[in-house]
Amino acid sequence: MTEQVTRATFDEVMVPNYAPSAVIPVRGEGSRVWDKEGKEYIDFAGGIAVTALGHSHPTLVNVMREQAGQLWHLSNVMTNEPALRLAQKLTDKTFADRVFFCNSGGEANEAAFKLARRYAFDHYGPEKNEIIAFNKSFHGRTLFTVSVGGQPKYKEGFEPTPAGINHCDYNNIDQLKALISDKTCAVVMEPIQGEGGIIPANVEFAKQVRELCDQHNALLVFDEVQSGVGRTGTFFAYEQLGVKPDVLTSAKALGNGFPVGAMLTTKDIAASLAIGTHGSTYGGNPMACAIAEAVVDIIDTPEVLGGVDKRHALFVAGLTAINEKYHVFKDIRGMGLLIGAEVVDSLKGNAKAFLVEAAKEGLFVLVAGADVLRFAPSLIIPEADIAEGFVRLERAVAKVVADNKAA
Ligand SMILES: Cc1ncc(COP(=O)(O)O)c(C=O)c1O
Repeated sequence: MTEQVTRATFDEVMVPNYAPSAVIPVRGEGSRVWDKEGKEYIDFAGGIAVTALGHSHPTLVNVMREQAGQLWHLSNVMTNEPALRLAQKLTDKTFADRVFFCNSGGEANEAAFKLARRYAFDHYGPEKNEIIAFNKSFHGRTLFTVSVGGQPKYKEGFEPTPAGINHCDYNNIDQLKALISDKTCAVVMEPIQGEGGIIPANVEFAKQVRELCDQHNALLVFDEVQSGVGRTGTFFAYEQLGVKPDVLTSAKALGNGFPVGAMLTTKDIAASLAIGTHGSTYGGNPMACAIAEAVVDIIDTPEVLGGVDKRHALFVAGLTAINEKYHVFKDIRGMGLLIGAEVVDSLKGNAKAFLVEAAKEGLFVLVAGADVLRFAPSLIIPEADIAEGFVRLERAVAKVVADNKAA
C-alpha cells in the first residue's frame, strides 16, 4: 500500500536545506506538468535549465527502457559502450579530446579544479596552485566548488575552506590583470553567469581572459553546466565567444534530468589525471550515458539549435510587451533560452513574488538571486505553450504590481 504523502511530510522527514513550493507535480509531458489535483502548469523553468527536451520525451523514454533491460551499472573497473559513444560524440563536437564522466555539475567542477591543480603541479611545481574565479559566480555545493564560487553566503559556517582561491569582478579585465600571476593555475568562468543573475560575458573580455591565461600558463576552465548542451543556441556557449577553454564542465541538460556530468579537456591536460588520481563510482554508468547520448543526438541538430533563437525572440517579445504595460523590469537580457528579467528598483529583492504568483496562475518560472526573474524552458517548447505561458505570466505580474501598490 502506498503511504499518503503531502508537502507537510517534507518538513517531517527532509533536511530543511530546501524550501520547496506547495505544488507537488506528479506528471509531465513536453512543457506541461500536472500536480496531484490535476492542476496544469506550463514549464518555463525546465528544472533549472535541465529538461532541455521537456518532460517524458518519447525517444528518451524508449532509450531509457531499452538500456534498463540491458545493463545499468558496472563501475569503472570496466568501460561500457554507451560511455564510449557519448565521449566520442562530445569530443567530436568540441575542442576536447578527453572526457571524464560523473553525476552532477558540482562533481564535474570538482574534477576540473583538481585537474587544474594537478596539471600545474606536474608541469610547474607545487607553488602554482592559485585559482581565480569571479564574484557572483556559482560552481556547485561541494566544499571546493563553494570556495571557487563567488557568493560568500554559500561558504558561511563551512570554513575552513580550501585556500588559494581569489575572486574579482566579472567582465572587468583590469581587476583580473591585477590578480593573475605565475602562481595562477586556472581561471574559472561561466560564459554566462546563471545563478549570479543571467550576466553574459563580453566577447572582448573572454578573449582577454584567454590571452592572460596563455601569458601565465594558467588553464581556462569554462563552467558550462547551465549554459551548455544547446541552452544558448549553440551546442556550447563558448562557440559564440570565439574563445576555446582548456577544460569545460557540463551537466544539467546533458541527461535531461537523468543525473550525469562531464568534464572535457585536451589530451595533454588529461594526462595529469593519471590512473588512481580521481574517480566516481557511478560516473559514466551505461544508463546515464545511453540517455545522454540520445539527448546529444537530438539537441545537436539544426532543428533544435535553430529553434532556440526563434524562441528567444518570442520570450523577449513577451517580456517586453508585459513591461510596456506594467514597467516592472529594468533589464531583459540573456542568451538563447537562458533569459533574465531584472526587476525595477521599487521591486528590488522581490523577484520571488513573481515566481509565487506565477505558480498560482499555472506557470513555473525561476529566479536568479533576489532581483532577477529567470526563464530556462525546454529548447523545444511549443510556441503555443510560450503564448499561453505569457498570458499566465501577465496575470501574475498584474497581481504582484497590485499587491505592491496596496502595501
Ligand atoms: C554554472 C553552474 N555550475 C555548477 C552548478 C552545480 O551543478 P549541480 O547542482 O548539478 O552540482 C550549477 C547549478 O546550478 C550551475 O549553474
